[in-house]
Amino acid sequence: MNEPGFLVGGEAVLLANKRSGLLILGIFLFGSVSSAFASDLAQEVIKVFEAKCAECHGDHLPKPKGRFGYVLDLKQLSENPLLVTPKDPDQSELYLLLVDEDPEFRMPPPAAKGGQMTGDEIQLVRRWIEKGAEPVSTTAVTTDSDPPVGDTLSGDDGATSGPITVPPPSDPPPAILVYLGKFHPLVVHFPVALILAAAIAELLWLFSRRELLDQGLRFCVLFAAVMTPIAGVLGWFAGEFEGYSGLPLTLHKWIGVGNIALALLSAYLGEAFRREGSSLTRAKFRYCLWLNAVSVCVGGHFGGVLVYGPDHLIP
Ligand code: HEC
Repeated sequence: MNEPGFLVGGEAVLLANKRSGLLILGIFLFGSVSSAFASDLAQEVIKVFEAKCAECHGDHLPKPKGRFGYVLDLKQLSENPLLVTPKDPDQSELYLLLVDEDPEFRMPPPAAKGGQMTGDEIQLVRRWIEKGAEPVSTTAVTTDSDPPVGDTLSGDDGATSGPITVPPPSDPPPAILVYLGKFHPLVVHFPVALILAAAIAELLWLFSRRELLDQGLRFCVLFAAVMTPIAGVLGWFAGEFEGYSGLPLTLHKWIGVGNIALALLSAYLGEAFRREGSSLTRAKFRYCLWLNAVSVCVGGHFGGVLVYGPDHLIP
């Protein structure tokens, strides 16, 4: 047992164990130090979404914009094929919206308080999707310098990523117009209610000929002729800056313009028949007002579709 050969061997084993222990310790220390510097890719993406998207798509919102309120839930994001195609940013709506040439469709919209995405941030999201869009990933983040605006650049490993184009940031719109736009949903209820009330009053007047109804509806029609254009202008701001787009916005906007025209025409015909005492003009007024009442409902419905989604009336 006391053979020198064995002792030497034993010491060698001990020494080797010490060495590998040190080596493991070294690797461990190096690992934790480097991971402190190069943080988790998924975590970085969440930070960007938190700063640039959560104001409209966070899960704390009762009514997230675009009916999409889980931008901070990477698992839910990556599992929605309509938003993310893992490993293929160019097929991922979430990414394509960040680099859309058209500021009308690009996310975040001009009104965003968090401002626009930087080239670095766009790159980061692209890389996250390229690496598989994992909700929790351990891929280290390498930060490139900000790519030149409007320029073409390629992803870090070049193998999976094609060139990406960072759109030039659009100028932020005047804050006062963005703010005024927020009053559209509030103000628009005036003309809606006034026009509907006048249309009902005219119907009742046809049967009852009561003076009170005639006076009431005259007031409503004139008031609506003032409020409808105001609501329309505020609505135009909201439509420009809030980030809405697509068919519901187009329909809502142009039916709204039609409603302004009908409200003004109703007011004009309403005053004209009173001046002329012509029942033909009153008939024209009546049909104009009733058409206005119907189209206010249709236009309002598309406003609801914009904010609450196409199925907002289905229980
Ligand atoms: C100021 C509010 C606002 C901010 C900030 C914002 N969005 Fe949006 N987002 C919207 C609105 C409004 C819509 C709905 C657009 C429409 O209906 O045309 C939308 C729609 C979307 C959609 C489409 C959802 C769907 O189901 O079709 C995606 C994806 C999206 N946003 C991603 C983002 C990302 C990513 C960010 C951050 C980089 C972001 N948004 C920042 C307002 C915002």
